[in-house]
Amino acid sequence: MESRNVVLVGFMGTGKSSVGKILADRLKRPLTDIDRMIEEKEKRKIREIFEKDGEAYFRLVEKELLRAAAQKLGQVITTGGGAVIDPENRRALKETGVLVALSATPETIYERVKNSRQRPLLQGGDLLSEIRRLLEGRRPFYAEADLFFDTDGKNAAQVAGLVLEALKEKL
Ligand code: S3P
Repeated sequence: MESRNVVLVGFMGTGKSSVGKILADRLKRPLTDIDRMIEEKEKRKIREIFEKDGEAYFRLVEKELLRAAAQKLGQVITTGGGAVIDPENRRALKETGVLVALSATPETIYERVKNSRQRPLLQGGDLLSEIRRLLEGRRPFYAEADLFFDTDGKNAAQVAGLVLEALKEKL
């Protein structure tokens, strides 16, 4: 039987994509990046989807692709920061996967995302306050994961090493 998916969840800038790549490599598993699947299906960048069709449309596409991805086993799946807000998304991911939550302080997240133009939810306004506000609202959803890793002061390879160690008992 193929083993459970390893699913990375957490706020923007917590390193899900970088850690996911290392995990997929080390575990010799295919990497399924939901945000990249969305961009491939839509043939445009996430920023453009938000601008032209709004967040609600983005969430619909995200939900459809996430559900399809969660039906397969043996992958490393990376999700967008807002993917686990939806209870059905959380359920679908949990059914076939171990949920690994990455976290960081608002200040660290700020440093990591401040120069990115690819994150529509963090454009304009007072960036640090916005990160704090969104993070507070999402904390309960990330808290439903199975494993938790604080990424402050660690690079992606270090975080991946800790995740791999903890996964030995879960996979
Ligand atoms: C989002 C996070 C983004 C992307 C979209 C919405 C969010 O992914 O899915 O911009 O709601 O937090 P990352 O967490 O990979 O930046």
